[in-house]
Amino acid sequence: MTLQIITDKQELAAWRANLPARQSAFASSFSSLADAKDEQPQEQQQVDPKPLIGFVPTMGALHEGHLNLIRQARHECQNVIVSIFVNPLQFGPTEDFGKYPRTFERDRELCEQEGVDVIFHPTVDVMYPGGQAGTTKVIPPEVLEKSLYGQYRPAFFSGVATVVSRLFNLVQPDVAYFGEKDFQQLVVIKKMVFDLHIPVKIVGVETVREKDGLAFSSRNVFLSERQRSEAPLLYKTLKQIAQQSKENKKTLSALLADGIRTISNLEDVDLKYLVACDVDSLETLTEYRLPMVLLVAAKFKEVWLIDTLVVSALVGAQHGKSWR
Ligand code: PAJ
Repeated sequence: MTLQIITDKQELAAWRANLPARQSAFASSFSSLADAKDEQPQEQQQVDPKPLIGFVPTMGALHEGHLNLIRQARHECQNVIVSIFVNPLQFGPTEDFGKYPRTFERDRELCEQEGVDVIFHPTVDVMYPGGQAGTTKVIPPEVLEKSLYGQYRPAFFSGVATVVSRLFNLVQPDVAYFGEKDFQQLVVIKKMVFDLHIPVKIVGVETVREKDGLAFSSRNVFLSERQRSEAPLLYKTLKQIAQQSKENKKTLSALLADGIRTISNLEDVDLKYLVACDVDSLETLTEYRLPMVLLVAAKFKEVWLIDTLVVSALVGAQHGKSWR
């Protein structure tokens, strides 16, 4: 199979039209893959148990975190499509849209190595015909849109929801894969799909990290040597809170306060938040409960870094698995 690069809607529709017909259990299912499998009649399962289209939306500058999503999609789906689109709508006027790394040739090679079928690489005009200002937007509920990361980047979640809903309409995937690193984004997308009755199953995938624990991010290249050596403290702090909250010697609030002090002690680091939240609503928690998610965001000078740790019954072994 050769990798196809598609840049416009018509070509994408033609690609979809050439695929075999979808099995209805996947096209209309909001339930988990395992459930969808169980729902199918026996003889359909034998025909082809895999969803037809697995989709990984990205802004490119691909790294191991993206590749992990792609590998999971490749493993679980008949066809894998990756979108590469730096979405202007999710950047504020003073943010790093122009500076965002664009490495299409390398991304193409990586997708080829991973056995991706299609890269959808649209222009801004394809995604926003008629311009961005007057276009229809998807606005997440205010508690999700304006809290945590949304306090500091007010255009971000409506920009993400708008572009992802358009990509879903264009690609028409059965399953779409998102990283848990961007946990608030994952919750916003799950809520959007539920509220708008979009027939796509959303799969959250565990964060992939460098050896020293720093989560892979397209923005890590902008860190100075010193910032790069300090950045793993974010995850280290999340892990400490997760471990110590299980030991029950200090309250969750006290552990979070310790963590805030530790990170705030770094020079030139502006800690925006370090909180524990409910995994579905993102309501902040002051008392320990399982599952919960620890979220941190900090600006290392002008570089945004965020990280996430899902604390479930399995923390310390393979965190996160039990709540998905
Ligand atoms: P981008 O930052 O390119 O990320 C694309 C996907 O990769 C997201 O689902 C993100 O959570 C996931 N990801 C990034 N780093 C990861 C890591 N270290 N481990 C696991 N997954 C990781 O997120 C976006 O693009 C955009 O907002 C997008 C959803 C494409 C909409 O424009």
